[in-house]
Amino acid sequence: MKTKFLASLRLFICALAISVIAPVFGRTNQPIIKDLGDGNHMLSTQVTNNYLLLPIQESAPESTMQLLINNHQIERHTIRLAIDKIDYFVPVNLKDYQDRHLVVRFLHAPTTSLSWNNITLSDTFDKTNKEKTWRPIYHFTPNHGWMNDPNGMFYNKGVYHLYFQYNPYASVWGNMHWGHATSTDLCHWKQLPIAIFPDDMGTIFSGSCVVDHNNTSGLGAGTIFAFYTSTGVRQKQCMAYSTDEGMTFTKYEKNPIVTSTATDFRDPKVVWYAPEKKWIMLVATGQYISFYTSKNLKDWTYSSQFGFGEGNHAGVWECPDLIELPIQGSKKTKWVLLVNINPGGPFGGSATQYFVGQFDGSTFINDDSTETKWLDHGKDHYATATWNNAPNHRVIALSWMSNWEYGTHVPTMQYRSAMTVPRTLSLFRQGGDYYVSNSPVEELSKIRQHKKDFDWITVSHTRTKKLPNNQGAYELILTIKPNKTKDISFSLNNKDGEKVVFTYQFEKGKFSIDRRFSGIVDFSRKFATVTSIAISEAATYTLHIYIDKSSIETFDGEGKWSMTNLVFPKSPYTHLSFDAADSSYRVHPIYYTLN
Ligand code: FRU
Repeated sequence: MKTKFLASLRLFICALAISVIAPVFGRTNQPIIKDLGDGNHMLSTQVTNNYLLLPIQESAPESTMQLLINNHQIERHTIRLAIDKIDYFVPVNLKDYQDRHLVVRFLHAPTTSLSWNNITLSDTFDKTNKEKTWRPIYHFTPNHGWMNDPNGMFYNKGVYHLYFQYNPYASVWGNMHWGHATSTDLCHWKQLPIAIFPDDMGTIFSGSCVVDHNNTSGLGAGTIFAFYTSTGVRQKQCMAYSTDEGMTFTKYEKNPIVTSTATDFRDPKVVWYAPEKKWIMLVATGQYISFYTSKNLKDWTYSSQFGFGEGNHAGVWECPDLIELPIQGSKKTKWVLLVNINPGGPFGGSATQYFVGQFDGSTFINDDSTETKWLDHGKDHYATATWNNAPNHRVIALSWMSNWEYGTHVPTMQYRSAMTVPRTLSLFRQGGDYYVSNSPVEELSKIRQHKKDFDWITVSHTRTKKLPNNQGAYELILTIKPNKTKDISFSLNNKDGEKVVFTYQFEKGKFSIDRRFSGIVDFSRKFATVTSIAISEAATYTLHIYIDKSSIETFDGEGKWSMTNLVFPKSPYTHLSFDAADSSYRVHPIYYTLN
């Protein structure tokens, strides 16, 4: 009697718990999955939940997942379903298929039962941050999944739009979509639903957006146009347009709009050339940039190619951009062609090179072909692109903060890759030549925690300084008065004995950052490196160092160079150690917080 009572009490409590918890956490149910032999499986269901949650194992081989409605394929993705270990779950969004009958086919998928026992239908997907140690605070990262290049950035009506190369089905590259995020201040980012999905033409590679203010297309003033590479059998340039401020896009029915016989033919960047009221499209073509022109954004004519004998050719040219930059201290401008290259970067793998010159609406001419100019001198700065239509003629750039040498192996799992901080570009002159200055946007100063608390620390001998209240997201401003007879160095250290060492070598005219002992480095042989830059003599050196959990972006105080490097320390760097008996430092730590 007593046991019966206890059993029914238990049942009652369970039912109560489900009715209370279910609305909060959403309904979850286990679908029936039929085994069709050889790893082929099938799920057939009337859709009432928001998501199909898939268990992923990153080391598992890729298999195919097809979504069918009414016997027709509506989505097809490659997935790494778990074989013997679940790394994490990813959601397949079913919101558009509510109350429809959906068939999901898994082709050549695992033959073990782990995935088939763990696939669930659910109303919710847990987006809470599981990467407490390394997920940055003031840099953009996707909630989950893989991200590489920034794509299609445009500004309109007070909003900065950022699209990005996105795989929502694993935190490794594949299934490229255009993810979407927006910001009104370049510091706080809000991730929005995916904007452009793969189709029967292929997956969606990098590209750009423009705002058609003058209705050159005839589709209406203010229409947003996206240009992207569709992959598949051959890379080809396609277009899509949006009449709802870039939230959703309609693909142009006459796609593709630009084709070629080249195997590497991608990353269309479209810019407005005001003197001739026409559009220019740049497409990375092998190791060159092809230029096209158009009056209406739909019909494009080939005009020229740039790159023979110019710059670095140790890798494939990707993600070009063409910008007219103001020259500091003058009213003049010059054209700058950004060309990302992989491999071939100064420290191996991916990097951004640029050319300063002239553009007449059809041909770009490099004014200085003697040296390769790099936009950043670290290892983790790639696929740089600028915002279209930015306010007050600002030229704001963003880069993928990683490197193709090891980007898919860095030790985060819930997400992989962050963007750099947005940076303002301009030109400065040195030794008769022009260079691009690359500094953090001024908006970043608004998220400083201690706005008025200018806490300068003066250090005139060897010692270690604790950085108070340190959660791993901060900026350090350092001014250094060197004794030129000796090299000087300082390091960021944590309680686990890990460190990042910054060194000025005056005789060699060199500044370097050593991340060989910075934390976890063994996920790739190419990660533990020292990056460096040639510096000229100065009485005082100023550095702005932006640290955000797993990244260190170092900017020369005069805006002459930047150095961007990832780090994966076991705990935040809490101490600054100075190792320069005869030098004098002043340090100003600023903590960052996002409210
Ligand atoms: C650069 C790149 C682009 C391409 C995209 C694919 O990182 O290789 O050329 O469009 O990534 O994700």
